Amino acid sequence: MSAINFLLLSGSPRGKMSTSYSLLEYLKAQLENHGKSCELATAHKIMRNETDFENFSNLLDGADYLIVTMPLYVDSLPSHVIDIFTRLLKRRSSDSSKVNPKFLAIVNSGFPEQHQNLLALNICQQFAQEADLDWIGGIPFGGGAIIGGSPLESSGGRGKQARFAMEILAKALSEDKEVPDECISRINKLIIPKRIYMMMGNIRWRKQSGSNKVRDRLNDQFFLASE
Ligand SMILES: Cc1cc2nc3c(=O)[nH]c(=O)nc-3n(C[C@H](O)[C@H](O)[C@H](O)COP(=O)(O)O)c2cc1C
Repeated sequence: MSAINFLLLSGSPRGKMSTSYSLLEYLKAQLENHGKSCELATAHKIMRNETDFENFSNLLDGADYLIVTMPLYVDSLPSHVIDIFTRLLKRRSSDSSKVNPKFLAIVNSGFPEQHQNLLALNICQQFAQEADLDWIGGIPFGGGAIIGGSPLESSGGRGKQARFAMEILAKALSEDKEVPDECISRINKLIIPKRIYMMMGNIRWRKQSGSNKVRDRLNDQFFLASE
């Protein structure tokens, strides 16, 4: 199996219809424009198939970079990203001749504030440390839901800042430079006022609760101590 420069993993269970995938697909095209070789995998696929996981792990052994994108789920990582990280950790702990690729994570959330994603990025950093990956930083993306899984290429104004952010990220990484601060500030620029974004999110939330027949349970507090 030939070595690749960038191994990209999209961690959303929504597959190709996700913001996580859109970001990586666009980043991959930019990196390839800079002459880099890339491989893009989806977490929900490789977690189900042992051969796919094995191929992914073998690619990681020869890669310069691992870049993982994922949605924020309850202030943490989606379960199958945790599953893949756990299996990689186990495999890497028993391999004394392993290489240490650089590792970058991008976490996107429904809430518009970038800080919502910091705990999840801390978890990624901890994984990097335990798996002997060279953590080069995390990109918190507040309000990633606005992309809604559309390909960045054709998402017009909605994806403008994310496209720009991925372009400057690709340029920096292809020159082996750090993640530019501008990448984080750009991707977090909301294209609509925050209160409109929240209003739209609330409308969608109520609509989804209706189609799932749980509208009367929206204010349930599961962890409230019962009297
Ligand atoms: C089960 C679940 C849990 C979520 N938890 C959070 C959360 O804690 N905070 C938040 O801001 N968004 C949360 N979201 C929203 C997603 O992070 C958001 O829609 C994201 O853009 C989805 O990314 P994707 O398209 O890459 O899957 C949650 C969504 C789901 C389905």
